[in-house]
Amino acid sequence: MLDSLRGAVDPLESRHESDPAAPTDLKTQIIRFFLTGVLSAVVDYGLLQLLMLTGMGYGPAKALSFVAGTLTAYALNRRWTFQAEPSRARFIATMCLYAVMFGVQWGLFMLLVPWFESMGWTMFWSTTVGYVIAQGVEAGGHVRGTLPLTELVPAVVEVADRAGVAVVAAGGIGTAADVRAALALGAHAVRIGTRFVATDESDAHERYVERLAAADADDTVLTEAFEVSWPNAPHRVLASCVAAAADAAPGPVAYVDEATGSTPLDRYGTRPPTRWTRGDIDAMAMYAGQGVGAVRGRVPVAALIAELMAELVGGAAT
Ligand SMILES: Cc1cc2nc3c(=O)[nH]c(=O)nc-3n(C[C@H](O)[C@H](O)[C@H](O)COP(=O)(O)O)c2cc1C
Repeated sequence: MLDSLRGAVDPLESRHESDPAAPTDLKTQIIRFFLTGVLSAVVDYGLLQLLMLTGMGYGPAKALSFVAGTLTAYALNRRWTFQAEPSRARFIATMCLYAVMFGVQWGLFMLLVPWFESMGWTMFWSTTVGYVIAQGVEAGGHVRGTLPLTELVPAVVEVADRAGVAVVAAGGIGTAADVRAALALGAHAVRIGTRFVATDESDAHERYVERLAAADADDTVLTEAFEVSWPNAPHRVLASCVAAAADAAPGPVAYVDEATGSTPLDRYGTRPPTRWTRGDIDAMAMYAGQGVGAVRGRVPVAALIAELMAELVGGAAT
C-alpha cells in the first residue's frame, strides 16, 4: 500500500535509483526548496479557486487542493531539492507531518471562512486577501501615508467594504482611546508600532527608549533626513535626533557589534540604535509616531497588551 502510494507521488523513482544525481550544495538546496514552496502554493491555491468555480464546497475543495499542493512539494523536494534515496521510514514520517499540517490548515480554513462570510466578504476575497493597512501620516518609521487617519480610514473603508476586505488602521495609535477612535472611523483592527519599541522584548537601545518616554507628539517630525541607502523615503522620527545628527561630525556616528565584528554606521543612516550599538546614539534614527506620548518606559509586551485590553474591554477612560 505504502509502496503504491509512494509510486504515485514519485513516478521517477526507478530512474533515480539506477542513476543517483550528484549531491547538490546547501545554497542550491535552499533555492530549490523555496521554488518548490512557491510552486506548491500556486498548485494549492489555483486548484482551490478552480474547484470552487466548478461549484464544489470550500471544505472538500480545500482538502483536495491541500493534498495536491503537498504531494507536489513532497515529490519535488525528494527528487529535485534533496535528491534523497527512497526511505519508507522517512516517507511515513513526512506523511504524518503532512497529516498534522492538513488538520491545522483545513481546520483553520473551516473556522475562518464562515466568519469572513458572516462579515459580508465575498468568497474570492475571503480566501485571497486578509486585510489592507491604512497608514496615516501620524505613523512612526517609514511613512507612505500622506493623510491623517481621520480622513484616510473612512475613504479606505468605503472602497474595501465593497470588496469585502478588512481595514487595519496604523499611525499614531498609542492608547486604548486611540484604538477606539480608529474603530469608530470604520477600521476593523489597528496596528501599533512605536509603543512596542519600548518593550522588554524589543532590541531598541536603552537611550532610544528613554527618549521615547520623554517625548510627546509635538516632539516628532516627518523628514527625509535619514536617507543613506534609502533616499526619498519620508519617515517620522524624534526631532531631537535630526538636530543631533546635524551637529555630528561627518563619518560614522556609531558602531554595531556583531558576531562577525564591529560595523560602522553612517551619519544619517536608516538603522535605529539597538542594544548592540555604541557611539552617538542620540544622532541615530529614532523612529517615533505621534502616539509616542503614551510611552512611559520599557514594559513587557504582555503588560502593554493587558493594559490596552483592560482599558478597551473595561471601557475605562485613558
Ligand atoms: C522602529 C520602527 C521601524 C519601522 N520601519 C518601517 C519600515 O522599515 N518600513 C515601513 O514601511 N514601515 C516601517 N515602520 C512603520 C510601521 O510599519 C507602522 O506603520 C507604524 O509603526 C505605525 O505607526 P505608530 O508607530 O505610530 O504606531 C516602522 C515603525 C517603527 C516604529
